[in-house]
Amino acid sequence: MKTRITELFGIRHPIIQGGMHYVGFAELAAAVSNAGGLGIITGLTQKTPELLANEIRRCRERTDRPFGVNLTFLPTVASPDYPGYIRAIVEGGVKIVETAGNNPQKWLPVLKEHGIKVIHKCTSVRHSLKAEAIGCDAVSVDGFECGGHPGEDDVPNFILLPRAAEELKIPFVASGGMADGRSLVAALALGADGMNMGTRFIATKEAPVHEHVKQAIVAASELDTRLVMRPLRNTERVLRNAAVDELLRKERELGSGIKFEDIIEQVAGVYPKIMKEGAMDAGAWSCGMVAGLIRDVPSCAELIDRIMAEADTIIRQRLAGFAVG
Ligand SMILES: Cc1cc2nc3c(=O)[nH]c(=O)nc-3n(C[C@H](O)[C@H](O)[C@H](O)COP(=O)(O)O)c2cc1C
Repeated sequence: MKTRITELFGIRHPIIQGGMHYVGFAELAAAVSNAGGLGIITGLTQKTPELLANEIRRCRERTDRPFGVNLTFLPTVASPDYPGYIRAIVEGGVKIVETAGNNPQKWLPVLKEHGIKVIHKCTSVRHSLKAEAIGCDAVSVDGFECGGHPGEDDVPNFILLPRAAEELKIPFVASGGMADGRSLVAALALGADGMNMGTRFIATKEAPVHEHVKQAIVAASELDTRLVMRPLRNTERVLRNAAVDELLRKERELGSGIKFEDIIEQVAGVYPKIMKEGAMDAGAWSCGMVAGLIRDVPSCAELIDRIMAEADTIIRQRLAGFAVG
C-alpha cells in the first residue's frame, strides 16, 4: 500500500511502532521494520547517549530497513542529555526521529541539517498545526483512547482525526486504539495516511518484555485502563492494577494539592520492574483501551501481514460493495 507516509519514510506498509519506554528496544524495532513497517527505538530508555548509540548499532545488525528513534520531552525526574542523544542519532545514521511530549522546535535545525525526518506526536489539532508550522515532516495524532499520555483535551480519534485532516497539509498517522485491518481502513477513511500502534506491538513475539506483560494485555478488556496524574496535568492512560488503585486513592484523598512526590512510589522507576521482571503490580504502566481488541501474541510479521490482508479484504469486498452508483 502506498500513502504519503510510506513514501516519506521509505517503508512498505503505513504502520509505525510508536516509541515505548522499556519496550522499544532493537529487537522490536528491527522486527517491525523487517516486517515492512517502521520500528522505533525509545531513546530515553537508554540511560546515556553511549547506550543509545549501542542500541542503534544493535538494531542495524538486525535490519537493513529504515527505523527511527523516539525522543520524548516529558517532565522526567532527571534531566536527560538531549544534545548527546541527538549526536548518537546523527552519528548512528538514523534518518527518522519521532518526537513527543513537548515542542521539538529547539532541536529541529540540527535534525534537519542532517537530513533527518521528524514525526511529532500530538494529542490536539492546535499542537499538530504548530508542528507543521515549525517544519515537522509529519505528525502522529494520538486520540484519547491511546496508551501513554493522551493530553488534557480528551478528544477521541473519531473526532480528532477528521479535524486533523481538515487542517493539516503534512501527512499524519492515526495513533491510539489501532489494532488491526479495520483500524487501518478506518484511519485512512478519516483522512490519515497510516497508523501508529503502541499497545498492540507489546503483545508480539519479538517485544522484549516479560511474558506477564503480554498476557496482561491479552487478558485485559477495553474497560481495564485508568487515567492517572490528571491533577498534575500529566495525564497517563495505564492498565489498572493494585498500584494504580492506590495511586487513584491518593489522588482522591489529596485532591488538587497532590504533588509528584506523593505518588513517586507508584510511578518512578517502575518500568524495569514491570517490563523486565514481570512484577505486574509494581506501579503504573501505560496501556491503551485497545487492549480490548488484542487476543493473541503473533510475530510482528504475522501481525503486519494480517493487518494488510484484512485491510485489503475490507476495501475490496466490504467497502466496494457499498459504493453508490
Ligand atoms: C508501555 C508504553 C510506553 C510508552 N512510552 C512512550 C514513550 O516513552 N514515549 C512516547 O512518545 N510514547 C510512549 N508511548 C505511547 C506510544 O508510542 C503510542 O503513542 C501509544 O501507545 C498509541 O496508543 P495505543 O497504545 O492505543 O496504540 C508508550 C505507550 C505504551 C503502551
